[in-house]
Amino acid sequence: MFNPEKKILIVFGTRPEAIKMAPLVKEFQKYPERYNLKVCVTAQHREMLDQVLSFFDIVPDYDLNLMRPGQNLSQLTADILLGMKGILEDFCPDFVFVHGDTTTSMATALAAFYNQTKVCHVEAGLRTFNKHSPFPEEINRQITGRITDLHFAPTSKSSENLLKEGTNAENIVITGNTVIDALFLAQDKLKNYEDDEIKYLKSLELTQNKVILVTGHRRENFGEGFINICNALKIIAEDKDVLIIYPVHLNPNVQKPVKEILDGIDNILLIDPLGYPAFSWLMGKSYFIITDSGGVQEEAPSLGIPVLVMRDNTERPEAVDAGTVKLVGTNTETIVREAKSLLTDKEVYDAMSLAHNPYGDGLSASRIVKAINNVGE
Ligand code: UD1
Ligand code: UDP
Repeated sequence: MFNPEKKILIVFGTRPEAIKMAPLVKEFQKYPERYNLKVCVTAQHREMLDQVLSFFDIVPDYDLNLMRPGQNLSQLTADILLGMKGILEDFCPDFVFVHGDTTTSMATALAAFYNQTKVCHVEAGLRTFNKHSPFPEEINRQITGRITDLHFAPTSKSSENLLKEGTNAENIVITGNTVIDALFLAQDKLKNYEDDEIKYLKSLELTQNKVILVTGHRRENFGEGFINICNALKIIAEDKDVLIIYPVHLNPNVQKPVKEILDGIDNILLIDPLGYPAFSWLMGKSYFIITDSGGVQEEAPSLGIPVLVMRDNTERPEAVDAGTVKLVGTNTETIVREAKSLLTDKEVYDAMSLAHNPYGDGLSASRIVKAINNVGE
């Protein structure tokens, strides 16, 4: 009788987790004789998660459908903890995979621990060691790390962070970041792929302007931070050679200030969040990117696109060391100054636009699956 050796449950809930876990789902699916794989989404995000599921053709086995408009962290954490209990009892996995630093990851790891199930953490060991920044992600990551049995660290720096905290070296595997696997999958697919969003972006004839791509959503930037950011974009857009394209995150705390301050400016395009293929296509066409996103900081070095990061610190120092990423905080004058320097000083621009791959070679998912294959042998 068919008896798969290991039962694997991969859990995620938000857009970036879905992008970064998709290559791992695909890799486990290659070996149905060895793994009984099930995918669970908490749906901490809904529309932005479904965009990714659809592009990577992933149909979840379990969907907790938890997202509520303007949700709060306590309710979300409680809902995930209770929802995951039922799924863990139903499937009884040998390994639960969580990713990164979201509330989905932290609460799922805790639910797995209560169920005495082994936890595997993908993108483990990133740290700022500042519990307020990123909020609540730094603490989500530390809690998840304490619970984790097998840590998949993307880089040697993240592995060192875990070792410093006393993690047993035998339980850490350096894999690269699966975000690069996803980016390569998307770029490969883009060779024969064009959806409505890409058609629309192509219709804008982007070569006529210097395109600045903007994203932002960090909780610690809500309020004054976002107002400063929007005021900076308004000043940068006074240069009519520039076209700012800003797919606005669906969080109401982001939508409100962005629309209030930036609606109606002819060279600022406020659009809905893009699907992953259109967004990765657009990154490649951008002159530079202004963002507070974690994932974009990892993708841009691989594409050689300069990134100004609207944060004071980062748990991703590799891209700063590589020179593609610069931290500019959320002060209006600083963002404007750094953007103008990239727009006008070719030397500054060239120094930041060299392609590097500090986050891996696109084979991270296969390293993770190999490590699981070796457990117990
Ligand atoms: C979450 C993660 C953050 C991650 C980010 C990626 C936590 C605490 N935060 O932040 O680490 O970097 O996702 O984007 O885990 N919304 C929708 N539709 C969607 C998605 C969001 O309408 O598809 C709106 C809803 O009103 C929702 C709100 O955004 O309540 C906030 O979503 P939430 O996941 O709590 O926070 P994010 O800021 O998205
Ligand atoms: N992304 C996307 N569409 C968008 C904006 C971003 O597909 O409109 C992708 C981006 O390429 C990256 C990920 O979403 O892989 C980053 O997600 P986000 O910034 O929401 O979260 P973070 O990485 O900061 O946790």
